[in-house]
Amino acid sequence: MKIKQVDAYQIYDSRGYPTVEVEITLENGIKGHGLVPSGASTGQFEALELRDNDKSKFRGKSVFKALSHVKTEIASLVIGEWVFDQHHIDRKMIELDGTENKSRLGANAILGVSMAVANAAANAKGIPLYEYLCEGKGNLIPLNEIQILGGGAHADWANDIQDFLAIAVGAKTYEETLEITHNLYHATGEVLKAKGKCVGIADEGGWWPDYKTNEEPFEVFLEAVDKAGYVAGEDVAISLDIAASDLYDGTHYNLPLDKMSYTPDEFYHLMKSWCEKYPIISIEDPFADTDIANWKRFKSEMGTKVQIIGDDLFTTNIKRIEQGIEQDLANSVLIKLNQIGSVTETIEAIRLTQKAGWLPVISARSGETEDAFIAHLAVATNAGQLKVGSFARSERMVKWNEIIRIQRQLGEHANFIGAGIYNKILD
Ligand code: PGA
Ligand code: ZN
Repeated sequence: MKIKQVDAYQIYDSRGYPTVEVEITLENGIKGHGLVPSGASTGQFEALELRDNDKSKFRGKSVFKALSHVKTEIASLVIGEWVFDQHHIDRKMIELDGTENKSRLGANAILGVSMAVANAAANAKGIPLYEYLCEGKGNLIPLNEIQILGGGAHADWANDIQDFLAIAVGAKTYEETLEITHNLYHATGEVLKAKGKCVGIADEGGWWPDYKTNEEPFEVFLEAVDKAGYVAGEDVAISLDIAASDLYDGTHYNLPLDKMSYTPDEFYHLMKSWCEKYPIISIEDPFADTDIANWKRFKSEMGTKVQIIGDDLFTTNIKRIEQGIEQDLANSVLIKLNQIGSVTETIEAIRLTQKAGWLPVISARSGETEDAFIAHLAVATNAGQLKVGSFARSERMVKWNEIIRIQRQLGEHANFIGAGIYNKILD
């Protein structure tokens, strides 16, 4: 059960950009793989994704330096290690890197190895990953947050808000969440086509329409809910990812589609008015990662009415989450493996969030792979929520489908509480 070999090679993510895949081989021949995702609207406090930045190779996007770090320094460090020592191996890699944000070896190099070690260990035990992680204590089938309309950095700024997502709050089973989402996703496509507004599909599979204002997507969404035969707010609620750090220039929030520029105070009132006007159950990054005063105020006024998720604010970073809990800035944390760069730190971030009585939302990136690691992570940690983009494209569907398989394997031990998860934070 010791690590015998560590190999790495370049594969391609859902945008066709190079990324890292690591293959770990144990002494007994058992293997495990780690496939690393990649963001586009990345937060400034994220661990560093090492790219070669050599314009003559893959337009600067290749990851050969990161691969070389895996095959040399990291391989020498982890070969001979007991594969079940995930914490120890992750800690050793973090020490070897020696920087705050994994910028020397690259978070993509370290995470690839970390995920491959976890997969190899589960394979060595002959059990699924969700059962291996967290010692088999996980059985909560997550409620999904599924993108219907894409925007922002994922749709060439067709509109200013990054994600319009659906949460099937009325669903009694996981299957029902998928049925509601399926019906809503396709009804939305029909509504957009009828209006002559459908341009295509954004990076995470949601519709990429042509809007005139930032409130138009709300109208489209609500019309589609109606067309699909559901009641907004009862069967399905709206979840937004504003990704507001991308809109903030240090003094103003800019919404070019509306030809508007807001002071932080004005933008606060805009976010609050949207939450009051529309059936919004969850809002992510409503303010920039530096606009702490607005986060604090929003949490104190809206924190029992809506889930407030910090993504760029926390970047899955334990120190930043600790500070956020201390200052009471949110009630939920978006969890992305590659924002912090190891499996161990990701699980620590989830535990810290849960201990504070907040909710973790396990999330994919806009650049994804055919891997379903995060579906297992969500169940293993009883996180309760999963966000992986839309209800289209296989790099997304592989995660939703994996939950179906995990639920089947868990059988009568599987637990689905759906929107009951919000009882922990909302009135
Ligand atoms: P990203 O987007 O992967 O491009 O950062 C996802 C998000 O902001 O939640
Ligand atoms: Zn986000």
